[in-house]
Amino acid sequence: MGKISQKEIEEYLGFKGEDFDFLVETAGKVRDKEVGNKVYLRGIVEITNKCIKNCYYCGIRKGNIGISRYFLEEKDAIDCVRFAVSQNLTSIVLQGGELKDKDFVFYVEKLVKRIKEINPSIAITLSFGEQDFETYKRWYDAGAERYLLRIETSDKKLYEKWHPESHSFEQRMKCLEMIKKVGYQTGTGVLIGAPMQTISHLASDIVFFKEFDIDMLGMGPYVIHPQTPFGKIYGDWFEKNRKNIFDLAIKMIAAARIVLKDVNIASTTALDSLNPEGRVYGLKAGANVIMPDITPMAYKRNYLLYKDKAGLYSSSAESLFSVLEIVKKSGLVASLGEVGTSPHFLKKRKNRF
Ligand code: 5AD
Ligand code: SF4
Repeated sequence: MGKISQKEIEEYLGFKGEDFDFLVETAGKVRDKEVGNKVYLRGIVEITNKCIKNCYYCGIRKGNIGISRYFLEEKDAIDCVRFAVSQNLTSIVLQGGELKDKDFVFYVEKLVKRIKEINPSIAITLSFGEQDFETYKRWYDAGAERYLLRIETSDKKLYEKWHPESHSFEQRMKCLEMIKKVGYQTGTGVLIGAPMQTISHLASDIVFFKEFDIDMLGMGPYVIHPQTPFGKIYGDWFEKNRKNIFDLAIKMIAAARIVLKDVNIASTTALDSLNPEGRVYGLKAGANVIMPDITPMAYKRNYLLYKDKAGLYSSSAESLFSVLEIVKKSGLVASLGEVGTSPHFLKKRKNRF
């Protein structure tokens, strides 16, 4: 398949019935050919639900005063990592709301160093939003090798409809550039099916991923959260559109696999909020990464970005078990004990040296 145009991607995203099934099947084949039939696991530790941002769609936005905020102490975070290591989960994602104060920057730096001391072969992905170049560099030098920053949408106008004026699209783009420049395997993603978004926006997102030459992709369906500005306006609309939003998320994964070929693509937790088999479908549609949540149970119920989040009452061992079941159901093979570097990133490296 040659270069795919925006128009063709739009067509894919409009598929229904047999065409939809064919798209999913094709994407599965592209995954098998380009990256194999293995699914890489990443243990997610949700370090904090504190956030200085106010995205209109997100349940942990600063303006939501109805949730209790937590911050994992280093000792608790390290316990999560020890659990992961005991289960042969050698790839960890440290995730949280956006915080930028000096103490936080230092905390992450120290935590990354500690994890590398425990086991230097653990691959660490960070996802703490927009930071300055120096911070990204410090965390990279401490030992983190991957960074995830969702652009949310690559359309500036739409971005501005989803965020208050104080949030800058240009700055977010600059951050992605910095992440890449520092040397991280660079991951991004978008919300799918969120208010005011069209198929044309989503097709442009895939073109953007390709042009930006990303290594990892983590995108999921929009799921409403009642205590947010969008939750208050779009409740009825969301309930009527649930199925469409889910199908669109699956088609986005499939189209992204067909276009981007050898990047790592996650089957994300939000899929499970819209369909009990959500993440199985995500894997069938070409994803090759899945991320069990290994945050301690007492905290994870407060990390509510959207409603009906799956696995809130599961222990870390149960989350891991259910992820292994999902992989089995999808007919793929779970890869434990492997860090699962993005094949796309590895190829770029090889060509450079
Ligand atoms: N539905 C789905 N995903 C959401 N996120 C935030 N709010 C929602 C929501 N209501 C996603 C954003 C963010 C990531 C941490 O969670 O894409 O980047
Ligand atoms: Fe904060 Fe991210 Fe939620 Fe925005 S989407 S409010 S930056 S956690």
